[in-house]
Amino acid sequence: MPRSPIIARTVPALRKALLPFRRKGQRIALVPTMGALHEGHLTLVKEARKRADRVVVSIFVNPTQFAANEDFGSYPRTFASDVAALTEAKADVVWAPTAKAMYPEGFATRIAPEGAALAGLEDKFRPHFFGGVATVVAKLFTQVAPDVALFGQKDYQQLQVVTQMAKDLDLPLKVIGVPTVREKDGLALSSRNAYLSQQERARAPVLARVLKTAAKRIKQNEPLEMVLEEGRAEIARAGFALDYLEARHAVTLAPIAARKDGPIRLLVAAKIGKTRLIDNLGV
Ligand code: PAJ
Repeated sequence: MPRSPIIARTVPALRKALLPFRRKGQRIALVPTMGALHEGHLTLVKEARKRADRVVVSIFVNPTQFAANEDFGSYPRTFASDVAALTEAKADVVWAPTAKAMYPEGFATRIAPEGAALAGLEDKFRPHFFGGVATVVAKLFTQVAPDVALFGQKDYQQLQVVTQMAKDLDLPLKVIGVPTVREKDGLALSSRNAYLSQQERARAPVLARVLKTAAKRIKQNEPLEMVLEEGRAEIARAGFALDYLEARHAVTLAPIAARKDGPIRLLVAAKIGKTRLIDNLGV
């Protein structure tokens, strides 16, 4: 039976937990999460173990990245089973700050990311989102001071925003993107999949299927806009309300008109019932 990770809830407790590792000159990896852990998160932890001596997993449902009408209150919170899974995955420290430890009274500073954060994708539908993410991730980076931090490609725009922020602020760590972990039928694992009814769950793989078909057709030089239009129609037919299905430059996320302007990343977001799902794929 592996040893339970140390659970830290305040910045001083976190520093105390990390000090022995630093004294020994050990490399530290950080995997930021909001809990409700699934195989996607645990794959990040596994990758982290390959790249560092010690692994810190943060669990914090960050209020500032949710809008008032979003699911902050109902977001799944499964701390006990998360810690059990992280024990099994051999994480060393769980950094689970209280809201007060993260945002003490009088907190007054925010990071305002630009570039990929203003690409007109997630930011268009969740304008508050990347400011909240960049601010909390910058805090996590300075609290833990990791050598590497691992993020999923599942949240592709987030990965680009965080990578750019670390570069722009000269943060001394490497941001690593890990490929999306999927169900057998292609659906990207997500904590929000738990919201899907049985019927919605049966329809959800259409997003991954459309991305895969579109990527293949674009590689075969079919016209970009036609391929995307057909994909949009298929997603609507499956009962989704589409936010976007777009082809963007894989690094800047700027719009592109043709395959030669790539590398291309296809990105999709759509709502089925009350649940909003996102996915993406490289061409
Ligand atoms: P959360 O949604 O919990 O995701 C934590 C990390 O797990 C992110 O880097 C996300 O991209 C990754 N992830 C989620 N599903 C995945 C999958 N199917 N395959 C691979 N990786 C996956 O993203 C957040 O939390 C927050 O915005 C956070 C960065 C923690 C800031 O609050």
